[in-house]
Amino acid sequence: MKKVKKIAIMTSGGDAPGMNANIRAVVRTSIFHHLEVFGIESGFEGLIDNHIKPLDHSSVSNIIQRGGTMLKTSRSKRFMEKTYRETAFNNLKKLGIDGLVVCGGNGSYTGAKILNEEFGISVVGTPGTIDNDLFGTDFTIGYDTALNTVVDAVDKIRDTASSHNRMFFVEVMGRDAGFIALNSGIASGAEAIFIPEQTKDYEKFVKRFEKNKRDTKLFSIIMIAEGDESGGAFKVAEMFKEKYPDLETRVSILGHMQRGGNPSCRDRVLASKLGAGAVEALLEGKTNIAIGEINGKISYTEFEKAIKMQHNSIGKDLLNLAKVLSI
Ligand code: F6P
Repeated sequence: MKKVKKIAIMTSGGDAPGMNANIRAVVRTSIFHHLEVFGIESGFEGLIDNHIKPLDHSSVSNIIQRGGTMLKTSRSKRFMEKTYRETAFNNLKKLGIDGLVVCGGNGSYTGAKILNEEFGISVVGTPGTIDNDLFGTDFTIGYDTALNTVVDAVDKIRDTASSHNRMFFVEVMGRDAGFIALNSGIASGAEAIFIPEQTKDYEKFVKRFEKNKRDTKLFSIIMIAEGDESGGAFKVAEMFKEKYPDLETRVSILGHMQRGGNPSCRDRVLASKLGAGAVEALLEGKTNIAIGEINGKISYTEFEKAIKMQHNSIGKDLLNLAKVLSI
């Protein structure tokens, strides 16, 4: 069993609220266990360019409440090439770093896995993405905050929708997954929710809308995940406009505001638990695994599996619930 002595932490892929709390937990847990700890700036890009700095307990003071990531992040194309990965590994080797924590999504896990396979360095991942689309954890870091941000935004949109009797098509993030759309849709009283995991029967939906129109529904919120097969909120709104030219419709794309802001309490706690869990896993000689939380307990999932498998609890019954509650 290979125990680590020097750990480095990086954030990679899209930023997510709670990444700072995760960095803090990795740094403080490492120091607690008398390990040296380093921060890599801008994910795999910074690793290639040797932007690695030592961190101490005060480097992570006053960041637990902040959104974004103090280490910065990137999506690295260069890391897909072996020659850059070699440079990256040599930078770690020069500093004697023998354990790496990567906080990010699927692409980041893939990068970490390759690094382990090619150079044998111990690597673990923590799930940092607002999309909640990672296997091996009930929730990802940043998801809860993003949900609250969306609900808050839609509550405001609702004021205008109700004042003007308009139909609002709200597009939320999630290029491959509908977790944000589905759960924020329920929480904000959406009349219909379109997610990539579900093929839609637009005819049926329009029929339902006709009935609602005849009754007393004067405004509505339709929630659409950006990765939905319809092609997004503008496309769905167009479909409606074609059928009902008199209808007052508006489209609202929430965009990157969903990724920002102070992390919720839930995200801070999750990020702290998983950061500590990551260091402890490395200390136990574990490698090539994603750290998660399942039913309140720390879980370990091989990268291979975490990358290939789909998060399996999209909860399609919620779609039905949305329909029932929007009568
Ligand atoms: O993976 C997180 C995510 O926010 C997705 O929901 C979204 O499609 C994507 O990142 C946007 O990425 P970028 O900020 O690189 O445009």
